[in-house]
Amino acid sequence: MKKISIKSKALIINKIKSKFEGQIQNFYIGELKLNEILVKLNYSSINYKDILVCNGLFWGCRNYPLVPGIDGSGIVIKSKSKKFKKGDSVAIIASDAGSKIPGCFSNYIKIKDIWVNKLTDKLSRKNAMIFGTAGFTAMSIVNQIQKTKKKKSILITGASGGVGLFSTFILSKLGHNVTAVTRKDKNYLLKNGAQKVILLKDLKDNTNLPLQKTLYDICVDNIGGNTLDYILKRITNNGTVYSVGFTNNNSKSSINLMPFILRRTKLIGVHTESLKITERMEIWKSIQAFIKKFGINKNLYKKIKLTKLPYYIKNFDNLKKRGRFLIIIDK
Ligand SMILES: NC(=O)c1ccc[n+]([C@@H]2O[C@H](COP(=O)([O-])OP(=O)(O)OC[C@H]3O[C@@H](n4cnc5c(N)ncnc54)[C@H](OP(=O)(O)O)[C@@H]3O)[C@@H](O)[C@H]2O)c1
Repeated sequence: MKKISIKSKALIINKIKSKFEGQIQNFYIGELKLNEILVKLNYSSINYKDILVCNGLFWGCRNYPLVPGIDGSGIVIKSKSKKFKKGDSVAIIASDAGSKIPGCFSNYIKIKDIWVNKLTDKLSRKNAMIFGTAGFTAMSIVNQIQKTKKKKSILITGASGGVGLFSTFILSKLGHNVTAVTRKDKNYLLKNGAQKVILLKDLKDNTNLPLQKTLYDICVDNIGGNTLDYILKRITNNGTVYSVGFTNNNSKSSINLMPFILRRTKLIGVHTESLKITERMEIWKSIQAFIKKFGINKNLYKKIKLTKLPYYIKNFDNLKKRGRFLIIIDK
């Protein structure tokens, strides 16, 4: 029989016939193996991938029941790893947790050390989770954009979501001219730094022309689909589109090659999960430096309790305004 190391309260997603349902239940965590650590979690947050996992829609997740939650921060309470010791403050983001192995919507997580980042005392566990995978991904793109000093005109789609909102907030604080695209509340994005907000339904191109008047040097695109066709036509010479996600359907795009050839447009894929540990630590440093200089707007996130997660997961895309959800994990 498998030895139990600890009993945890967790959100468990069960597959009942073809339906997926989440409930807070007891979850038993087994003994640590070599190179694993046990973390008592204090905070987590909700990402788009969590919503897919909770609804049985994430391609990489086939085994239910499952504890979702890709993000978590907490304190190491047991370690069989040379890299971590009891008492270390740590964050877990963009890993196998919450899809292939039990995740962070739980009081405790048992996880391989390769997926864990040590936090310095300059970055709190709370702030690490306000950013979470979404804000971390935004910062990884910001660091690319900041390689040249020039202030740029930047389009951000899916702007009320985690990656979009943090891209909007950070890039506007750094002096760029941000146009946000949303299906939701324009004022919310204006308050968080966007200079201009366009409703997604107005981002249409009714012509068949492969190129249009250029408007943006850069785009951070979270939605893909045929919106990406429109975006590519509007990017200035040598401009870049960062392709982060495809919330608006991956199959509807019919990209024309003209912008790539005649305007030397770059389309760069973003994949946080495959960043090396050294790259991850640089991004955490940038987050820490950014927070020190600019702080975090209170309205970028809302605090919720772990026990309230089933409601938020069910209603995620219909919640007004949006931004990030910081999950407070109590005992
Ligand atoms: N590549 C990576 O490493 C990486 C890392 C993190 C996230 N991602 C991906 O990036 C995307 C954003 O992640 P997130 O955590 O920021 O998600 P999120 O908080 O759910 O935000 C996604 C936003 O996309 C827009 N959206 C959602 N469904 C849409 C639809 N059907 N049509 C048009 N717009 C829609 C919404 O913005 P509005 O309501 O403002 O329109 C929503 O707020 C996801 O696809 C996620 O999987 C990728």
